[in-house]
Amino acid sequence: MGNDAGLRRFAGTVSLVTGASRGIGFAIAERIVAEGGEVVLTARTAEALTEAVEQLGPAASAVAGRADDADHRAEVFAHIARAHGRLDHLVNNTGINPVYGTLAALDVAAARKILEVNVLATLEWTRAALTAGLARSIVNVASVAGQGASPGIALYGVSKAAVINLTLQLADELAPGIRVNAVAPAVIKTDFARALFEGRESEVSAAYPLARLGVPADVAGPVAFLLSEDAAWITGQTITIDGGAGIGGLA
Ligand SMILES: NC(=O)c1ccc[n+]([C@@H]2O[C@H](COP(=O)([O-])OP(=O)(O)OC[C@H]3O[C@@H](n4cnc5c(N)ncnc54)[C@H](OP(=O)(O)O)[C@@H]3O)[C@@H](O)[C@H]2O)c1
Repeated sequence: MGNDAGLRRFAGTVSLVTGASRGIGFAIAERIVAEGGEVVLTARTAEALTEAVEQLGPAASAVAGRADDADHRAEVFAHIARAHGRLDHLVNNTGINPVYGTLAALDVAAARKILEVNVLATLEWTRAALTAGLARSIVNVASVAGQGASPGIALYGVSKAAVINLTLQLADELAPGIRVNAVAPAVIKTDFARALFEGRESEVSAAYPLARLGVPADVAGPVAFLLSEDAAWITGQTITIDGGAGIGGLA
């Protein structure tokens, strides 16, 4: 679980992690629980969420629904008020990429959906969390796709660039009370990224100085740090988590 130091940075706190039945969101929830926190998860599929909650134990609960559905968000915050009466941390982890191809060939309905889920829903979860009394910090899950050209998934990159800038805008607007940071991972081994590495993992890993692809726990550690008081004087930052891929050696 990556918590060998016996840290308890989330004791007495409640966190909401969206898109957390598997992958990066689940690993973040796992880390928060390992450090003594309570966590509320969301995702669309109720059965997968039930399994995730069973794995995490009594500190976890979940509400199923679509991240871009206002009624679902209202249900989540009603659950948090009822079950916990407080909210300390928000992790905007849900992100989608339903299309692959050039911008020239992009279907505009798909583009709209990507921006609705990845950008506008991130803002809406944040606004609703503030209304619900969010007390401490927010981490948004962006991507290295938002830090440069990302051929084939360009509009996804545009949406993640917007998440990075949204992080800056919110950090400015919500200081000093709430800190807002982001992470920008490269390829992490989850269902979401499977097409990018399946069947050719050693070939893809060769592009990474640290000589392997990322795993969800590689993201959960930095997210836990940014959420916690260890990052008390850090806001508006995006931490790149890329196994050194961005170093840019000339070899
Ligand atoms: N994996 C990577 O290489 C990588 C790299 C950079 C950034 N990221 C970002 O990391 C985040 C998590 O990705 P992941 O790789 O962990 O994906 P994943 O393993 O596919 O997990 C995605 C999670 O989000 C839920 N979800 C998907 N669409 C949703 C929606 N519209 N509303 C609510 N929940 C939804 C999924 O459950 P349901 O399907 O049941 O809803 C699942 O729990 C995303 O923002 C992604 O853009 C991933």
